[in-house]
Amino acid sequence: MKRLIISLATVAIFLFFFVSCYYDSEEALYPALSTSCDTTNVTFSGTIVPILDNNCFACHSNNTAASNNTIPLQNYADVLAKADRIIGSIKHLNSFSPMPKSGGLIKTCSINQFDIWVRKGMLNN
Ligand code: HEC
Repeated sequence: MKRLIISLATVAIFLFFFVSCYYDSEEALYPALSTSCDTTNVTFSGTIVPILDNNCFACHSNNTAASNNTIPLQNYADVLAKADRIIGSIKHLNSFSPMPKSGGLIKTCSINQFDIWVRKGMLNN
């Protein structure tokens, strides 16, 4: 009987320490969430141009636009003039041509960063 109590107590103590305290980090469980999205240092040259470069320049750079029958979106002035069209296109909103053409949505982080750049006054920084 004494043995039984001791072994039950041992099991209980074991469970208490190793099972009841359950620590998980969100970053470890969902690596996709932890890839940080820099929403504080959003600039034209450092953020917007790389987004366009990665997703759009294949058809919208100064060199590729003409042959793809598109508008160039490489220079600040071109992007500024089309900012609202770009926003509608990358969010796939109704009545906008969804971009990238024949592709899925670009990263949510990139869409948010573009939004932030527009809200902060579309600076040429
Ligand atoms: C595979 C080629 C291709 C890629 C990549 C592409 N586009 Fe386009 N884009 C086009 C073509 C072709 C048109 C003109 C026909 C149309 O509007 O669908 C166009 C038109 C546009 C327009 C004008 C639409 C309007 O309402 O006047 C905008 C803005 C635009 N694209 C933004 C983007 C952005 C931003 C990206 C990157 C996230 C992108 N595109 C990626 C081919 C592309």
